[in-house]
Amino acid sequence: MGTDLRDLIAAKRDGQELTPEQVQEFVTAATEGSAPEVQLASMLMAVLINGMSDAERTGYALAMMNSGEVLTWDHLDRPTADKHSTGGIGDKVSLIWAPLMAEMGYAVPMISGRGLGHTGGTLDKLESIPGFRTDLSSAEMDAVVQHVGCVITGQTADLVPADRTLYDLRSRTATVPSVDHIAPSIMSKKLAEGAATLVLDVKVGTGAFMKTRDDARRLAEVMVAIGRGAGRNTCALLTTMDAPLGRAVGNAVEVDESVDVLRGAGPMELRELTVDLCEAAIGAAGDEDMGGISIRDKLYAALDDGSALDRFGAMVAAQGGDATAVFDPSKLLGGEGLSESILVAPRGGVIAGIDALSVGLAVAELGGGRGSDGSAPDPGVGAWLEAHVGDHIEPGQPWARLLHRGGAGLDAARARMKAAVVVANVPAGADDRVLERIS
Ligand code: URA
Repeated sequence: MGTDLRDLIAAKRDGQELTPEQVQEFVTAATEGSAPEVQLASMLMAVLINGMSDAERTGYALAMMNSGEVLTWDHLDRPTADKHSTGGIGDKVSLIWAPLMAEMGYAVPMISGRGLGHTGGTLDKLESIPGFRTDLSSAEMDAVVQHVGCVITGQTADLVPADRTLYDLRSRTATVPSVDHIAPSIMSKKLAEGAATLVLDVKVGTGAFMKTRDDARRLAEVMVAIGRGAGRNTCALLTTMDAPLGRAVGNAVEVDESVDVLRGAGPMELRELTVDLCEAAIGAAGDEDMGGISIRDKLYAALDDGSALDRFGAMVAAQGGDATAVFDPSKLLGGEGLSESILVAPRGGVIAGIDALSVGLAVAELGGGRGSDGSAPDPGVGAWLEAHVGDHIEPGQPWARLLHRGGAGLDAARARMKAAVVVANVPAGADDRVLERIS
């Protein structure tokens, strides 16, 4: 006979707090398929309507974490750290953050995802490096972390199976958009990676999952509470996603721009945000003493002296990729047969805004996003912003370049780009990406 969840559903329906054992019973039923879907779905809706306490959400995340393999790193001689971003346009921070943290003496076992809709995925970006593997087993992941200090790979089938079942059910029952589900879902996967320290980059703005600062703050606070409740050093930064991060949007172009930052160049806002997120993690880990040198100076030095870039190259090689492509972007995949289409400023002035969502959708029109049928994105297409928010621009001056393969998508992409840019008469205020720190 299957599990009977009726008493638990009734308790949540009536607004009661579930015990950790009751939450575990629900998650076990989802993992083992021992309760009918109708009961699981009823519980999902009761949670969406009546919410959960901090203790319930932590129990929910831990129960999902324990539904599959949980990675452990006690055998390493270094502390472990990881980062999670809620996703945005041009967000290639993970590619820089992981090797930079490895340079700071941390082991980084990072499990990343693929693009969803108009947001790019870290794995899709890395797969524009010829040969780069994102399907490592946990033994292979362990070997790369031991050998290089950082790894970025996809989720194995054994990690958090309960979330897969429940996420599928949520998507079929209109129960996705609830912090009480989203935060445990994200955190269960991060907790299962086993890193002792976790920094969360919660994006706010038109190109982000969370459109308002209040919603983003709530998600960040709830995720930090789960991380802390699970005994991990956890902090979050709320960061803006109204304009694309950096100048490159697309897969290969974002790898290229990440390499620029790893060699001490690249857009300042991308370098600064990456350093902010490293500093936040190191602070959360309680590791304030870096041999008398400020953490920021040490981070800048590892970018400027090329050591973080060498670390990235070592990670690429260890994951089967062509490390020479890191130093020669013409070797990245998808470069053949591309054409360029230039967008010029409609008038002179100062760029007051470049709407992140519109740029993300433009790149998706060119084929840079994952198709609704799950088809792989085109690694080569993308957008390059020649000018960014705050820059002066003359009438007719190019402000963006699209890398494309022609077709109907190009007209649609150009229309979206034209709608994205706002040119004003007066300079915009300073654009600090970090809005708030939550710890
Ligand atoms: N990402 C996740 O992993 N889970 C959610 O519920 C939403 C976004």
